[in-house]
Amino acid sequence: MKRLLICFGLFLGTLTLMAQELSIEGGRFRKGDDPAWSAPAFDDSSWQEVTFNQSWEELVDYANGYGWYRIHVVIPSSLKKGVVEAIMLDLGAIDDSDQTWLNGHPVGKDGTFPEDPGGYSSEWGRRRHYIVDPSWVRWDRENIIAVRVYNYGDPGGFYRGAAKITKPSLKDFAKLSLLSEEGGYKAVLTTSVKTTGTLQVTVSDVMTGATEVAKTQKVTVPAWKEKLLSYALAPQKRISVTYSDPRFPEELKAEVCSPYILTPPAPATPRYNGPLVFGVRPGSPVIFRLAFSGEKPMQYAVEGLPEGVVLDPDKGVLSGSCAVEGDYPLVFTATNAKGSTSARFTLCVGEDKIGLTPPMGWNSWNCWALSVSQEKVMASAAALINRGLADYGYCYMNIDDAWEAEFRTPEGRIAANEKFPDMKALGDYLHANGLKFGIYSSPGDHTCGGYLGSLDHEQLDAEVWNEWGVDYLKYDWCGYSKVFDAGRDKSEAAYIRPYLKMQQYLREQPRDIFYSLCQYGWGKVWEWGAFVDANSWRTSHDIQDTWESLYVTGFERQPGLHPYAGPGHWNDPDMLIVGKVGWSSSLHDSRLTPDEQYTHISLWSLLAANMLIGCPIDLIDDFTFNLLCNNEVNAVNQDILGHQAHQDVVEDGMQIWSRDLYDGTNAVGIFNLNGTTVPVSLAGALAKIGLQARTVRDLWRQQDIPTDAIYQIPPHGVLYIKTGKE
Ligand code: GLA
Repeated sequence: MKRLLICFGLFLGTLTLMAQELSIEGGRFRKGDDPAWSAPAFDDSSWQEVTFNQSWEELVDYANGYGWYRIHVVIPSSLKKGVVEAIMLDLGAIDDSDQTWLNGHPVGKDGTFPEDPGGYSSEWGRRRHYIVDPSWVRWDRENIIAVRVYNYGDPGGFYRGAAKITKPSLKDFAKLSLLSEEGGYKAVLTTSVKTTGTLQVTVSDVMTGATEVAKTQKVTVPAWKEKLLSYALAPQKRISVTYSDPRFPEELKAEVCSPYILTPPAPATPRYNGPLVFGVRPGSPVIFRLAFSGEKPMQYAVEGLPEGVVLDPDKGVLSGSCAVEGDYPLVFTATNAKGSTSARFTLCVGEDKIGLTPPMGWNSWNCWALSVSQEKVMASAAALINRGLADYGYCYMNIDDAWEAEFRTPEGRIAANEKFPDMKALGDYLHANGLKFGIYSSPGDHTCGGYLGSLDHEQLDAEVWNEWGVDYLKYDWCGYSKVFDAGRDKSEAAYIRPYLKMQQYLREQPRDIFYSLCQYGWGKVWEWGAFVDANSWRTSHDIQDTWESLYVTGFERQPGLHPYAGPGHWNDPDMLIVGKVGWSSSLHDSRLTPDEQYTHISLWSLLAANMLIGCPIDLIDDFTFNLLCNNEVNAVNQDILGHQAHQDVVEDGMQIWSRDLYDGTNAVGIFNLNGTTVPVSLAGALAKIGLQARTVRDLWRQQDIPTDAIYQIPPHGVLYIKTGKE
């Protein structure tokens, strides 16, 4: 396609005109809020020029509140011709809410503003697609797009690169969805233009891929009407519908499948599913729960324990401490009515020995967010044990934001609010069960949720957390932006400073505190995270339970980060979005499809990512349990080499990621990021990354599969395997 570059002067950056698309890299910005700024004739020549690939805080000295962008753009009449004369503004994602005008005409609004009825709500992750009435466009002349933005927290405004003006396609007028109804699904085609086309439906078996029903029918739907067709959906079935209108080149597609369970049930005999190592600093409390699945009750025994460390044989919990550095080889044995199983294990005692495998556990944010309470934490902690997730190595119980009281005590101590009546008792309960206690704070004076942060109280806060028995700190930049923005220093040292300071006080405590940095990957944190002795660092912005968010977080932000991960220091692509999430007191099932959820957990396993469950454990269903408690999938995540996977192949919407494991094998994820099922030759895929094998292990199904076969990888799905040593 011919690309024509038009330079529009400094203010506009570069405008790229392709046959069907006009790309806009930047515009003019000013802080504040004034309705007059939507008028096309307003003189914005004194406004600051900005580009759209960075948030506004990175470009101008301004964080929360209102800001406006004005974009001057010549819209060519070549965009006008086609089936429908409208054009579409694709503004990319805007943080947080926006209202947009073209030449003074309101074209759209996403999210809400503080003064709106019901108050402010963010839509930071959503792409803005505004269809514009063609009569509002000044063809082949300058147009003004005015965008009013309200930002709360980081980052602000446009932040995901170029905006675009395009000719809309069928999907911009019509939507094909499959909505659940009693006993199955209904396909709904909603359209704002009259359309006549072909609807194809197939129903196939999720496990075998075999097509069971294939139907084609002609449909006509008048403008502003919808067509409804119902389909029954039996368990383990996949329904795919495709609609095509011959006037538009692309098709609409929708697909659903019922949740399907691939992980075989655990045997009734004891099976060890936990990490093969656990590290502790000399003299620090040992808190470790032996992770054996199988019928309960169970009795536990351990051989080789160093002096000072003891086992509770009924609970399988190690406690005590060990003063002498060294690697202690242990043998765990678990016995129940069905049999007895032993597993080799190493207890490492040394200064640099914490976080030897990625942390596994729970965090309150993705489900409860600011509505978290001690009661909710206790419910999830109890379920971690009763539902058997602790038998798979999940052990951290981390309270995120919103535990903090409004004011410090007169002595300056941070305190918990009324939702957390007794933090020390909570810590004691967790430790007595071999679980670990995590907490959250910010290096700023307030957290992202507006609660008290640790600024200027770092030492005292670390001491208070030690008294409560805290084992994990998530330290979230947020309110620190105020300090950072006020300073002239924007170098790497300025990013490092607050994190180094807290680490010094954490290290002074007589217990191990896993140090988890949260600053969304700014300042290339992976390059200096280990220097501040952090055990993990967030590499990206907050994840949400949508495919777009999973795609950006997992497949766009993580490539290239593998050299920075290893025992003690992990890249953290954010918490899990399976099960019931909601970021409030009202929860919903993850909006990811079952295939996307397999992709999510497979990728996090490959990435050696922190495995922090984001849903209430007591509400976990069988499908989610199957995702979280596959011992072979988790063993890759916990592999003691700690080699994070690298992205090896990106081709036709497919990606292959692989990592090597301590036993000489490789874990390989073959991901289909396309919207339709893709047949893949396994031998061909392995050859692309230089691997040959006669048989490989399907990690989800836990069975060996031949390499000389073709496998159907569902849309946004994965084939996750481990190659043998041959
Ligand atoms: C930020 C973090 C989230 C969560 C919230 C709490 O957005 O990235 O993970 O901790 O703050 O306010």
